[in-house]
Amino acid sequence: MTHPTDIRREHRPLLLDSFCCQGGAGMGYHRAGFDVTGVDKDAQPRYPLAFHQGDAIDFIRAFGSGFDFIHASPPCQHDTDCQRIQGNTHPDLIAPTRDALNATGRPWVMENVRGAAHKLHQPVMLCGAMFGLQTYRHRYFETGGGFTLTPPPHPAHTAPQAKMGRPVPDGWYGQFVGNFSGVPLARRVMGVPWMNRDGIRECIPPAYAQWIGSHALAHLGIFAPAVAA
Ligand SMILES: C[S@@+](CC[C@H](N)C(=O)[O-])C[C@H]1O[C@@H](n2cnc3c(N)ncnc32)[C@H](O)[C@@H]1O
Repeated sequence: MTHPTDIRREHRPLLLDSFCCQGGAGMGYHRAGFDVTGVDKDAQPRYPLAFHQGDAIDFIRAFGSGFDFIHASPPCQHDTDCQRIQGNTHPDLIAPTRDALNATGRPWVMENVRGAAHKLHQPVMLCGAMFGLQTYRHRYFETGGGFTLTPPPHPAHTAPQAKMGRPVPDGWYGQFVGNFSGVPLARRVMGVPWMNRDGIRECIPPAYAQWIGSHALAHLGIFAPAVAA
């Protein structure tokens, strides 16, 4: 692993993709123009970019200030409907992650699911329909460190949605969560051909992060954001 302080900026600004899993967010920021380093507590052999295995909050506190922009996706199992029903308990890392992000002094985004949206401060919601994806997959994004986002218009949901995790009939939209069926379809719909089921169920579509990334670059004074969502 390259130590982040050893990374020399050539052309691309540096982005820390914390809690990176298999890199849905990371790939979007890479496509936007960032040099991305992912951090996850678990080995992530499918992560397609530079990777460090370790605790994300420790890493943000130690090295976050050396990055131009930071993305965080603390685990959402604590807040998913199915986990609540099953009575599973997981650590809630949202507040400690926010504290670590704010301590860096850098601009940041922290993402989570609908069940945790009430814990995020004034989150912006992104939907697949905003990006022409055939899945709705609402995700919520808190911003900080001086960075703000105005979401694109939210198109009406006109396609019928298959039930969570169930096979997706032609013309319907899938919900790729839990032990969903149809990995090839999910890869195609969400634009994540390198991922397996474990990564897909956790990820944000790269299109979301590419859009955020283009605005982050504008915030940093590097490129103009893409016009269309
Ligand atoms: C919701 S997933 C992230 C999805 C990712 N943003 C994407 O778009 O593909 C959360 C990840 O956080 C990791 N994780 C959980 N606790 C962690 C910790 N303390 N430090 C680092 N990673 C952690 C999990 O292993 C999991 O891969």
